[in-house]
Amino acid sequence: MKGRSKDRRYGTMKIVIIGSSGRLGAALMREYRDRYDVAGFNRAQLDLSNLNDVRERLRVTNLDVLINAAAFTNVDLCETERDRAFLINAEVPGILARICREKRAKLIHFSTDYVFEGEKRAPYIEEDKAKPISVYGESKLAGEKNVLAVENRHLVVRVSWVFGPDRPSFIDGIIKGAQENREVDAIADKFSTPTYTLDIAAALPRFFAPAGDYGGIVHFANAGECSWREYGQWALDCCHEAGLPLKATTVGARKLKDMANWVAQRPVYSVLSTAKYTKLTGMPPGTWRDAVADYITRFYSKK
Ligand SMILES: NC(=O)c1ccc[n+]([C@@H]2O[C@H](COP(=O)([O-])OP(=O)(O)OC[C@H]3O[C@@H](n4cnc5c(N)ncnc54)[C@H](OP(=O)(O)O)[C@@H]3O)[C@@H](O)[C@H]2O)c1
Repeated sequence: MKGRSKDRRYGTMKIVIIGSSGRLGAALMREYRDRYDVAGFNRAQLDLSNLNDVRERLRVTNLDVLINAAAFTNVDLCETERDRAFLINAEVPGILARICREKRAKLIHFSTDYVFEGEKRAPYIEEDKAKPISVYGESKLAGEKNVLAVENRHLVVRVSWVFGPDRPSFIDGIIKGAQENREVDAIADKFSTPTYTLDIAAALPRFFAPAGDYGGIVHFANAGECSWREYGQWALDCCHEAGLPLKATTVGARKLKDMANWVAQRPVYSVLSTAKYTKLTGMPPGTWRDAVADYITRFYSKK
């Protein structure tokens, strides 16, 4: 563990991040290391499929807030590895919730827009009925329930289309594709909202402080909504603006039904309403277009 917290508002708050090498976990590690007393576990340090190890290692770890950014996130593989999906995405979060309750610590657990079936055409609110259409979504929903059944003071944060500098995602794939090929395309009939890991990192501390001691489910995503094609197009526009050489400058449209290699079903529309988050914190999330522009400026234009 590092030294004492450097953020006086939060005293000597000890934060432990599980999944510290993942796209989100690594961003949280980096963003918090100068402000809090932070420790992390990646898979090599703690394999979540070894439940005894999880219990033993965490019971002897001092913490005020435990952030679970680990998950079995391969949506297609979850279909064929159902037991593993439920172990990592549902059973482990319940165990983490119990360990936190014993320690009088808070668990912040991440979930997904894929808990929804995608039939709505307006942003999903926290009270909407979750009805997953994939094993990944089912297992994540079970994880939410397991966490909140233990302690309603714990927090479940549902996010969508996570992107950031620590592990490539859709946006990096489309940029690489446009750098190497004259044509790129993306699905134009599936809608949600990109969520920038640096914005998630900035949002979470509002729930660490006693004043923000909210428990339950909260949705967090950047503001607005788009298709994957629009998301990709904006990324290329930002790259163009930043002077990044591209072979393709427009993103062609593909249809969801043409994704023959996908095993799992995905929701067509899974935009998360952030009205509750905004009401709780008084801080509306920034738009997805600004988040993407910031990402390109910071992590691509200086390459
Ligand atoms: N990515 C998205 O678009 C998206 C959308 C909605 C919700 N979410 C949720 O957001 C959270 C963070 O996702 P992410 O994008 O950061 O995913 P990610 O990059 O796949 O990170 C997940 C992490 O969990 C770790 N992990 C998986 N199985 C493990 C095990 N048995 N033991 C220990 N660690 C294990 C992985 O380790 P390895 O690095 O060794 O594989 C990885 O570091 C997850 O709860 C996810 O469900 C993500």
